[in-house]
Amino acid sequence: MRDLPALGAGDTQSLTRFMNRYACALKEIATRIEILKLDFESTHEYSPIEHVAQRLKSPESILRKTHERGCSHDLNSISEHIRDIAGIRVSCSFVSDIYRIAGMLMQQEGLDVVEYKDYIEEPKPSGYRSLHMIIKVPVHLSDRVVRVYVEVQIRTIAMDFWASLEHKIYYKYHGEVPQRLMNELHDTATDIEQLDRKMERIHKEMRALKIVDDARPGQY
Ligand code: GTP
Ligand code: MG
Repeated sequence: MRDLPALGAGDTQSLTRFMNRYACALKEIATRIEILKLDFESTHEYSPIEHVAQRLKSPESILRKTHERGCSHDLNSISEHIRDIAGIRVSCSFVSDIYRIAGMLMQQEGLDVVEYKDYIEEPKPSGYRSLHMIIKVPVHLSDRVVRVYVEVQIRTIAMDFWASLEHKIYYKYHGEVPQRLMNELHDTATDIEQLDRKMERIHKEMRALKIVDDARPGQY
C-alpha cells in the first residue's frame, strides 16, 4: 500500500470541517430515527427499534479506501465516492420492522435515498443479511445547506449478532477463513433466518391474543 499523504495546517482545518459535516449528518439522521422510535412507541405501545449505533470512519481509513479504489484524494471527490464515511446501524426486533423503518425514512422530506440494497431478500454469499441504504442527508450550516451521504444498515438483533461474530472471525483469520467455518457460518445464517421467522410469528400471535383480551369486558 502506498504511504498516505502528509497533511499541512490548512489541510487539517479543511479535514476537520469535512469530518464535522458527517458528524452533523449522523446527528440529523439519529434524531430522525429517535423521533420515529418515540412516536411509534407512544402510538403502538411497542418499539420496532431495539438499538441504534453510529460510527464515523477515521481519516486514515477514508484515505486507505480512496487508495484501494484508486480515486483521487481531494475532499470533493472523496465526498462523492466514499459513501460510508458516516454510518448508522439500526437493530430491530423483527424483519417486518426493518421494512417499516426503511419505508418511514424513505418518505421523509429532505432525505434522499440514492442506493437501496436488500441483502435480506438476496443474502450475500457469506450468508450476511441486512438492509442497506445510502441516504443523502441535509446539513444546515450557518450560511448554506450541504448534503452528505450516510450509510444506514437496518437488521434484526439476530442478524446483527451473526454479522458481528462473522466480522470478528473474518478479521481473526485476515480474510482467509477455513472452509469448515465458512460453511458453519452460512448454516447459522440460515438458522437465524428461521429463528427470525418463528419469533415474528409468536409475536403476532401474542398481539392477536392481546387484542382479544383487551376487547373483553373488565374482570377482577
Ligand atoms: P464497501 O466497500 O464496504 O462500501 O462495499 P459496498 O459498497 O459493496 O457495500 P455493501 O453494501 O456490500 O457493504 C457495506 C458494509 O456492509 C460493510 O462495510 C459491512 O459493514 C457490511 N457487510 C457487507 N457484507 C458483509 C458480510 O459478509 N459480513 C459482515 N459481517 N458485514 C458485511
Ligand atoms: Mg458501501
